[in-house]
Amino acid sequence: MTILVTGGAGFIGSNFIFYEREKHPEDRIVCVDKLTYAGNLSTLAPVMDDPMFRFVKADICDRKAIFALFEEERPDIVVNFAAESHVDRSIEDPGVFLETNIMGTAVMMDASRKYGVTRYHQVSTDEVYGDLPLDRPDLFFTETTPLHTSSPYSSSKAGADLLVMAYHRTFGLPVTVSRCSNNYGPYQFPEKLIPLMIANALNDKPLPVYGKGENVRDWLYVEDHCKAIDLIIREGRVGEVYNIGGHNEMANIDIVKLICRLLGKPESLITFVTDRKGHDMRYAIDPAKIHAELGWLPETMFAEGIRRTIVWYLEHREWWETIVSGEYRSYYEKMYGSR
Ligand code: NAD
Ligand code: DAU
Repeated sequence: MTILVTGGAGFIGSNFIFYEREKHPEDRIVCVDKLTYAGNLSTLAPVMDDPMFRFVKADICDRKAIFALFEEERPDIVVNFAAESHVDRSIEDPGVFLETNIMGTAVMMDASRKYGVTRYHQVSTDEVYGDLPLDRPDLFFTETTPLHTSSPYSSSKAGADLLVMAYHRTFGLPVTVSRCSNNYGPYQFPEKLIPLMIANALNDKPLPVYGKGENVRDWLYVEDHCKAIDLIIREGRVGEVYNIGGHNEMANIDIVKLICRLLGKPESLITFVTDRKGHDMRYAIDPAKIHAELGWLPETMFAEGIRRTIVWYLEHREWWETIVSGEYRSYYEKMYGSR
């Protein structure tokens, strides 16, 4: 079987490729990635020489290139990770989010229709449900929670989700959608909370916490997300949405303090900065459906996952220092310079 993975040079896509090569060595993986600021080809070095792996640099919005690739590869399954993924960037410049996240999804599905894939899987996010109040710990996002987005990023992902379900109903495209909570782990770009705090703490730089740091996220180790997607594409029911999350809610400030403690850095590095516009308060996934239907449960507890993640960033300084010293530096100045 050939699995076409988009966005495989990014954080979750690369972890998914490594997981698939290990778990299903009989399946060939074709990775399509535009290599935006968030895509890093060096991440894929471990599989570049693997005969069951092929990397193709292309934009998922480039209809001609994507159709030509489908003509050549005839993939059985498509897993669409490719996206602009950072909320803060979407607040600065929404346009590219609409382009890649919505139009790119349409191109991938048009090609999937024409070449008759057995499954098109859309990697979505819990952010499409909006947020939950802090004073209602009894509330969780289920698959039937209405879409109610806050940022250009989450709106573009929700738009894509609607389009995916429309392609299923209108054209009979065999789709599945997964909506996962916040991931952490190796190869996450150091603009996201956990790797940003690790990198800054290691460089004794201020740790910028938005607002009061009370916002709650539901953290999942990236490998558990990859396992869930693997199960969904092989055993999930066509036309269904699956929420993925591990009931691991934590306030941002507690995460940052924990990182300080684990790295032996002083909490005095923590700096409270202007809040994100439209900042979602709390995300919390109810994963009952994927557990009941596919037997999925998270396997890595947060204490172990965060320890592994910190060790990874300590052992792969070159990977993130190259990023931090490049284009990201000017982004960092723009976003935090006067915050
Ligand atoms: P990422 O930003 O680390 O990686 C995105 C990848 O997509 C990069 O390699 C980039 O080069 C590529 N890409 C971007 N635009 C492209 C285009 N037009 N054509 C081809 N490739 C393109 O993102 P991530 O954190 O790995 O997220 C992957 C997916 O998972 C996204 O769809 C995101 O919405 C979703 N998601 C992320 C999280 C999370 O916590 N990170 C949680 C739930 C869902
Ligand atoms: O929930 C899934 C989503 O999780 C994914 O769909 C997104 O692609 C992914 O980026 C992530 O979105 P968040 O906005 O939750 O992640 P981020 O790491 O940007 O921020 C996590 C929390 O930390 C959020 O409440 C904002 C806060 N934060 C973030 C940064 C970068 C800070 O306080 N300081 C920071 O410098």
